[in-house]
Amino acid sequence: MKDVLILGIESSCDETAAAVVKNGRDMLSNVISSQIDIHTLYGGVVPEIASRKHIERINQVVSQALKDAGVSPSELDAVAVTYGPGLIGPLLTGVSFAKAYAYARSLPLIGVNHIEGHICAVYIENKDLRPAFLCLIVSGGHTHLVRVKDYGEYELIGRTMDDAAGEAFDKIARVIGLGYPGGPKIDRAAKEGDPDAVVFPRGHGSGEYDFSFSGLKSAVLNYLNSCEMKGERISVPDIAASFQKAVVDVLSANAAKALDSFGDKSFAIAGGVASNSLFRSELEKECVRRGVGFFKPSPVLCTDNGAMIASAGYFKYIKGEFSDLNLNGVADLELCLR
Ligand code: KG4
Ligand code: ZN
Repeated sequence: MKDVLILGIESSCDETAAAVVKNGRDMLSNVISSQIDIHTLYGGVVPEIASRKHIERINQVVSQALKDAGVSPSELDAVAVTYGPGLIGPLLTGVSFAKAYAYARSLPLIGVNHIEGHICAVYIENKDLRPAFLCLIVSGGHTHLVRVKDYGEYELIGRTMDDAAGEAFDKIARVIGLGYPGGPKIDRAAKEGDPDAVVFPRGHGSGEYDFSFSGLKSAVLNYLNSCEMKGERISVPDIAASFQKAVVDVLSANAAKALDSFGDKSFAIAGGVASNSLFRSELEKECVRRGVGFFKPSPVLCTDNGAMIASAGYFKYIKGEFSDLNLNGVADLELCLR
């Protein structure tokens, strides 16, 4: 079969990203222009600023992705773009660009769900990973436990009832003075701390495999307030380590329970929080203990990127699932219903 070259575009939050991927798994380029330095000034992503920065950068990011891949626009087979979930302004920038690009070059357009993109990121470095498998997607906006039954076929078995795990990392980092983006900073600080220093609650949601992080977040805030009232000094590394341990315990407990019930032989992690060192090692241990294959993207493919969108686009391309020029951004797009 002829090689299929897909240009993937991602702009759902604060990364302007584009990549070219061959046949869904062979990453020819991956350009990511992060806005972290700008949003750090405000302690979090400012949607309006993010939209404007995407507009400024998207042209150059796409040109660089084609150049790095050594692919000319006429060699592309399709353009895939994230159309949700995410921030509506940033989504619209990517979607509008992709529509114009596809129209101008008479290329098929493929709208991709961002969460599906995170799952497909795992295929890129794990050429032998094939459905069915269980996947835990943990990012700034989502915490989803999904059974990947086939390419593009998902069963949502657990999700957060309130905050996403990454959101909790970001909020707690802010209140303990580590700043934005919180996840990597807590990960680093935790290495110097004692994970058993403070016992924070492990919250689960209403369904068997659901998650909840808002109670944990409140518990950390209450702990900080009570230390302040008593005039007690706090240890940032100890709080970071104890909080991180609480999050990872909940994530791995639900994943372990699902592995035992569903009997999947492969397990994958994905999304920004999947770069967390404790999360990676604990989930790997659960898999090794059960003789289950463990698959993880390298950190650059855990955070938002265009390659994951191009990969997801490929699996839609081969099924003929194209979008038309009415494609719009959908801020609360679901991966699947349950
Ligand atoms: O997937 P992603 O890039 O964007 C969304 O789709 O949300 O995930 C970003 C999230 C942020 O909340 C960030 O703090 C978190 O991933 N994150 C981490 C780490 N690296 C990024 N959380 C914990 N530990 C890390 N090392
Ligand atoms: Zn993401």
